Amino acid sequence: MSFTRRQVLGGLAGLTALGLGGVGARLWLARPQVAAEHDYELIAAPLDLELVPGHQTAALAYGGRFPGVEIRGRQGDWLRVRFTNKLDQPTTIHWHGIRLPIEMDGVPYISQPPIPPGQSFVYRFKTPDAGSYWYHPHLMSSEQLGRGLVGPLIIEEREPTGFSQEKILCLKTWHIDEAGAFTPFSVPREAAREGTRGSLSTINGEHLPVIELAAGQITRLRILNLDNTVTYRLNLPGGEAKIYALDGHPVAPREFKEQYWIGPGMRLELAIRGPAVGAELSLRDGVVRLATVRGVAPTQAASAEWPAALPGNPVSEPDLAKAETLNFKFEWVGAMSEYASGQERPSLWQINGVAWQGGEEHKHNGPPLAKLKLGQSYIFTLRNMTQYQHPIHLHGMAFKVLDSNRRPIIPYFTDTYLLGKNETARVALVADNPGLWMFHCHVIDHMETGLMGTIAVGDAWCG
Ligand code: C2O
Ligand code: CU
Ligand code: CU
Repeated sequence: MSFTRRQVLGGLAGLTALGLGGVGARLWLARPQVAAEHDYELIAAPLDLELVPGHQTAALAYGGRFPGVEIRGRQGDWLRVRFTNKLDQPTTIHWHGIRLPIEMDGVPYISQPPIPPGQSFVYRFKTPDAGSYWYHPHLMSSEQLGRGLVGPLIIEEREPTGFSQEKILCLKTWHIDEAGAFTPFSVPREAAREGTRGSLSTINGEHLPVIELAAGQITRLRILNLDNTVTYRLNLPGGEAKIYALDGHPVAPREFKEQYWIGPGMRLELAIRGPAVGAELSLRDGVVRLATVRGVAPTQAASAEWPAALPGNPVSEPDLAKAETLNFKFEWVGAMSEYASGQERPSLWQINGVAWQGGEEHKHNGPPLAKLKLGQSYIFTLRNMTQYQHPIHLHGMAFKVLDSNRRPIIPYFTDTYLLGKNETARVALVADNPGLWMFHCHVIDHMETGLMGTIAVGDAWCG
């Protein structure tokens, strides 16, 4: 027994129409609740931002602010977001890193029709994993994300953790000039290399901000890379910090030393001890300062002890002995000439010899790169044949990073792995979520110039 894609889309279209009227709203309220529900109204609309002092930038924003409204849910509860598109183009919302049903994944033409201007759509799903996630559109991505449609999504642990205070740092390097006007989000020459980089680094929308931390106390820092292309080489010379989670999933706490490379879409959770009152540290990208961290007098009694490790998320452990191995090759093709022949973007990158052909709107997607049996364990060998690194991201399921030929790996669960140049890494997962899941590089202009495909899970999607 399976349903066709048209029925899925039809069902969702009906839901959208229902969500628009008062009747729909009452229906939602009348629904009996088992787990608690966290409700949000979210609007995407144009917003002028003052990123460069004295100048306006014609941004797009979620909830009238940048970064977008902080959406918070709780592990195991429902999250409901009634979203309205007040942009002048279609959009969707994808919930990056959340394991949810395909109908809620926000991928146009696969999970739902694009949401036209003026329309609403109700996203409602359970959040099985605690951690730091984020949300963004999944079409016209270089422009929509580039202009500011990105926001943090925090799923709290069910039980209190040892942290009593936290800060969210959203990293973004804007593609703007000295007068705040946008510069191109993607130019073929750069898309063919590490990706088109913006020029103004910001944290929570501010260039070189001061981040105040309670002196001597421990703060949970959730660092989210919401940028289109930049991999930040994060370091904090002289700082006292430990890594507690990578991309939403907890790890055994370890010292934050030297540099951590956080690619687009990735997250890093640190426990950090606030420096002495008035003392300052530099949070840097390589040798370039991103922010000043300053110690201030504590305003609450909070712990100066390093908290215990965060509780693990209920991700299925892949059975490596029974796993089937699938190979994925990421290649550079650089066929710039095809760009002239009427394509919206050049075709520069391929996965297993195939470049994404769906365009920025995902209109035509080809056959899946792989078909997975529901419940079966798989090992993916990820082979980067290029001179550039790629944050490889999978929707719908978390995977476990096993090993790499380039660096020591302590196995951990994630949704995005930063695959270095010429690196081969192995990751494993249980194909436990039926759907057609996007599998792509999160450097937006790599993804839009070919480095994207789909993975089918379950009979209904393997066709
Ligand atoms: Cu942030 Cu297709 O994902
Ligand atoms: Cu995603
Ligand atoms: Cu890439």
